[in-house]
Order: sequence, then C-alpha cells, then structure tokens
Amino acid sequence: MSDEADLSRRHFLTVATSIVGGIGVVLTAVPFVASFRPSARAQAMGGPVEVDISKLEDGAMMRVVWRGLPVWILRRTQDMLGRLAAEPDAQLKDPGSAQSDQPDYARNPARAMKPEILVVVGVCTHLGCAPIERFDVAPADLGPDWKGGFYCPCHGSRFDLAGRVMNGSPAPTNLAIPPYRFVGDNVVIVGDDTGVKA
Ligand code: FES
Repeated sequence: MSDEADLSRRHFLTVATSIVGGIGVVLTAVPFVASFRPSARAQAMGGPVEVDISKLEDGAMMRVVWRGLPVWILRRTQDMLGRLAAEPDAQLKDPGSAQSDQPDYARNPARAMKPEILVVVGVCTHLGCAPIERFDVAPADLGPDWKGGFYCPCHGSRFDLAGRVMNGSPAPTNLAIPPYRFVGDNVVIVGDDTGVKA
C-alpha cells in the first residue's frame, strides 16, 4: 500500500470512528435524559390524587391510582348501608377495625367519613390480589348469607360493603382505608387528610 493510500485509509477510519462514537453518544444520551423526566406512573406514585365524584352514581364504584395502589371509591346506596348494618359482627374477623389499617375518622361501622362514600385500597390483605366487587345479594356461588361486598378470587377471601373481612377468609385484616378528605361534596383528595379531625 502506498503512503498516500495508507494516509487516506487512516483518515477514513478516524472519520468513521468519530461518526460511530457520535451515534453512540446520541443513543445513550436519549435514555439518560428521558430517565430524568418524571413519567405519568412516577407522578401517580407520588402525591395526593384529586378525584371528582360528581358523576359517580348511587351504587357505582370508580377506581383511581394513588402511590401505585388501586383505590376504589364506592357511592353506597341506602339499601347497601342497610345491608352493611345487618351484617352480624360474629361473621367478621375485625368488626371494629381494631387491627386494620385505617385513619381514626374512618373507625366506625361504615369505615368512612361520610357513610355513603367508601374510599378503600383495592388490594387483598392476604397476598395482594385484586378483589372483585360483588354487590349482588345471595348469589348462587357465594351463598344465601352474602349481602354484597368484595370477593378475592385468588384464595376466596370475602369482604363486606365496608371492606371488612369475614371469618373463614385467609385475609387477616380488613381492606385498608387510605387517608383522604373532601373538598365540598364532590371532590375527594386521596392521600391527604390535612385538617381532618377524628
Ligand atoms: S390474595 Fe386474596 S385471598 Fe389470597
């Protein structure tokens, strides 16, 4: 190879290396920068979540995410509250929620600040599955004593319409109630109970 050809080959290699190196910088810089941009998920895992419940109908439930947890908001009907009151304490593991995770202002039979609005974490306290809502009364698969509530399909834990766990369920405690507060009648702030008294 002549000196001239050798020089030109080295020039080509230098330029090619620079280009490849440049691409490498660009390729690695993009995810690096992206990792500093807070994702929607990261935001969802952070602070309080404001929820408009003005369109939540009687007997309906909506789901939000707070700190990565599913939180359910159920607008209980008078009929549902009646069924809840009719649930014998003897059927429940922790009827007064003495062992369960909840703020003091929700330590009542309805487990709520306002009886008709249940705000509850939708995670089974056994091994973390997602219970499903079963608001029907005495369905064939859950038996004649079922007054409506939540059923965990993983290992059969049963919870009433206030998320209280029933005897015979593997779940040890009631579904957790997160901190929350109301702003007016139709906005719930999940994850913040500043100023709320027990
Ligand atoms: S995770 Fe719900 S019963 Fe086991």
